[in-house]
Amino acid sequence: CGIVGCVGRRDETLSTLVHGLSKLEYRGYDSAGVALVDDDLDVVKRAGELDDLRAALDGRSVAGRVGIGHTRWSTHGPPTDANAHPHRDCSERVAVVHNGIIENYEELRAELTEAGHEFRSDTDSEVVPHLVEDYLAAGEETEAAFRRAVSRLEGSYAIAAVVAGDDRVFAAREDSPLVLGLDDDAYYLASDVPAFREFTDRVVYLEDGEFAVVSADEWRVTDADGQVRDKAVDTVEWSPEETGKSGYDHFMLKEIHEQPRSLRQCLRERVSELGGTVDLDVDVAPDGVQFVACGTSYHAAFCGVSLFHEAGIPAQAFLASEYATSPPPVDGDLVVGVTQSGETADTLNALREAERRGAETLAVTNVVGSTVSRECDQTLYIRAGPEIGVAATKTFSSQVLALALLVLSQTGASRQDVAALRDLPGNVQQVLDESNAEEIAQAYHGSDAYFFIGRGLHYPVSLEGALKFKEISYEHAEGFAAGELKHGPLALVTENTPVFAAVTGDGELARKTIGNVKEVEARGAPVVVVTDGRNDAARYADHVLEVPTSDERTAAILANVQLQLVAYHAADLLDRSIDKPRNLAKSVTVE
Ligand code: G6P
Repeated sequence: CGIVGCVGRRDETLSTLVHGLSKLEYRGYDSAGVALVDDDLDVVKRAGELDDLRAALDGRSVAGRVGIGHTRWSTHGPPTDANAHPHRDCSERVAVVHNGIIENYEELRAELTEAGHEFRSDTDSEVVPHLVEDYLAAGEETEAAFRRAVSRLEGSYAIAAVVAGDDRVFAAREDSPLVLGLDDDAYYLASDVPAFREFTDRVVYLEDGEFAVVSADEWRVTDADGQVRDKAVDTVEWSPEETGKSGYDHFMLKEIHEQPRSLRQCLRERVSELGGTVDLDVDVAPDGVQFVACGTSYHAAFCGVSLFHEAGIPAQAFLASEYATSPPPVDGDLVVGVTQSGETADTLNALREAERRGAETLAVTNVVGSTVSRECDQTLYIRAGPEIGVAATKTFSSQVLALALLVLSQTGASRQDVAALRDLPGNVQQVLDESNAEEIAQAYHGSDAYFFIGRGLHYPVSLEGALKFKEISYEHAEGFAAGELKHGPLALVTENTPVFAAVTGDGELARKTIGNVKEVEARGAPVVVVTDGRNDAARYADHVLEVPTSDERTAAILANVQLQLVAYHAADLLDRSIDKPRNLAKSVTVE
């Protein structure tokens, strides 16, 4: 989600807020709303795109120089007018926008309901205005009431609030971004700089645990104890033209870099620190699993197969288009549709076929309220946030993680499992910080073809590495099971076909894949290994892409991040249309 706030000294607050939201649509676009205050509070919000909000605002007099706004990507509750932000308290004096997840909202909601508050939405966020209302009713001054309300929250948040009769915006941050913009005749607040970059380049970044109070003539940042912080005012280096991509050249690169955050979001509230049960809000206990999916989601499902097998639960992955053509017996299996968009026609049809045959169905998707979530018996959300680049990146990682969680929901999670999951976002960050993928893309620029090999979980990663490479660079790329090389593909290998081999760990799989690496090396092919250094694969390689040592289940996600970066840089060198590759669409709603 994206939040904005503005305190202007001229009557342009409403248009500034709507402009800001248009620049934050990449953070979410399933509903939007604004709240403005003077003596009264005006709130206008709508499910749908920003244009639906614009239409709702058309002709209405929404006045005030102080306001907040929100563009939503649903996590709790489907995209409806009622679930759109800003949320209000019972007295309709307080309005709040929120980005993040309030983990203790159920308990707060129960407490507030008990005290007589009536809730109008299914969201976690709505507890905040009701809490503020309570503290105001108890006689607290506005800022104190806001601070006390925020102190009750557990989880992640960037929050902005306005209160009728008060000409300030109140804000707080914990684990969700928030930045102030300082202009000569207005102060802004937003999840990201593009929201106000057209007006100013002077910014103040808030840190976790900080609060901000912004009025027409003053802004102030304090810590959790109310002490004023001496904040640096930074100057943004990039121009307004680059907005929307947060300074990245492409949405794809931005989304690759968002992975630590999207993985954290996927884990949040689901696994306790100590292990034990994994809580996914999904009630399944399958004897067997059939996955149906297309494209990148199929590769994630394929990873799911290995993960289920490891847990002793039989699983198969089917290309959705083939599943419907020749459906297997379902025989008590759970049929799981893996689809980022939740709208892919092939996947929906395969699931419908499975349902006709009496199967129980589960959707694994990124989009709340999507067709797949409405049609399947149950839904597991991957919570990756909106993905704009046609080539799926962060949603693949989050799908694999969600499937790993699904397996742990069946087997229970040990402390070691929890540690592996907890380390994953940081390990991905390390890959992003230290990757030499650009140098490798440059080294092999102009090759005849690019091959990707791996075993176990690294087999679907090889398929995904090749898919990413071909779809955005338009170069010939293929992924193979490393063991299959000798049964045919080896005939294609020359000194002008680099081979990327994912080899992590020090077990049997690594040993065998190294054997395959030697086979291609002996035929003169350049070799790039993706390795965690726990084996000697690097000895046979021309280049190495390093990943941190980790649990083998998460190593596949790390290796894939390196291959995403290689594909990105290869396509960039060729000046391809990376975010919108030729002939491809993000969501394919025809068979
Ligand atoms: C299209 C996209 C792919 C995506 C596939 C499945 O082909 O170009 O990137 O992997 O659809 O999409 P889904 O939304 O079902 O995951």
